[in-house]
Amino acid sequence: MSPMDWNQRYEDHDIPWDKEGPSPVLKWILHRQRTVFPENAKAMVPGCGYGHDANLLATHGIPTLGVDISAKAIAGAKARYHHPNLHWQVGDLFADLQEHSVDCIWEYTCYCAIPPAERDAYLHAMHRALRMDGLLVGIFLLDSGTPPEEGPPFSSTLEDLTTRFGTCFDLEWDRWPPVSSPGWETRERLMCWRKRAV
Ligand SMILES: C[S@@+](CC[C@H](N)C(=O)[O-])C[C@H]1O[C@@H](n2cnc3c(N)ncnc32)[C@H](O)[C@@H]1O
Repeated sequence: MSPMDWNQRYEDHDIPWDKEGPSPVLKWILHRQRTVFPENAKAMVPGCGYGHDANLLATHGIPTLGVDISAKAIAGAKARYHHPNLHWQVGDLFADLQEHSVDCIWEYTCYCAIPPAERDAYLHAMHRALRMDGLLVGIFLLDSGTPPEEGPPFSSTLEDLTTRFGTCFDLEWDRWPPVSSPGWETRERLMCWRKRAV
């Protein structure tokens, strides 16, 4: 569905988004507000890349499925991380996710990789994958420094996110992330959406 050859980017080691470790905001959440993720929840990380965030969730006792369209990325994730709570899937999030299979989703740098024309398809795919009342928690890029139609990464606006996700999710809370890289304090938003019946 995406025009970008993601697997080739991993084959070429052309992956500037990979920070060789989990996202600081997920670390913060798991240390300071672990209850964001429900007790006994099963999680999914779409577009998990080398699986750093999926592994962090797993080590905090959350069985986690990392999904990526790139076989090379998933091979890299499998080589790096072996926690028993971890599961991996090479798959297209638009086509290959099992319905109603997870309680929560951690979104980080996947939504902004999706071209704007595919955003509704993304949100319907996340909605389908979640169990009823499941949570979609994550960071959403508000300003990539490039025009909205240029990317990846593709930036969004709070208005667009609120309107679009509001069609089938209820907003639990949103805030500026508790930790951001310098200069990014107001360029990304931490949001928590709860699946609603539609
Ligand atoms: C910008 S990268 C971020 C990777 C990872 N979240 C990280 O922070 O290192 C976007 C990821 O989404 C994956 N991706 C893009 N389109 C996808 C799709 N349709 N289904 C599953 N994964 C996809 C890419 O292969 C890539 O690993």
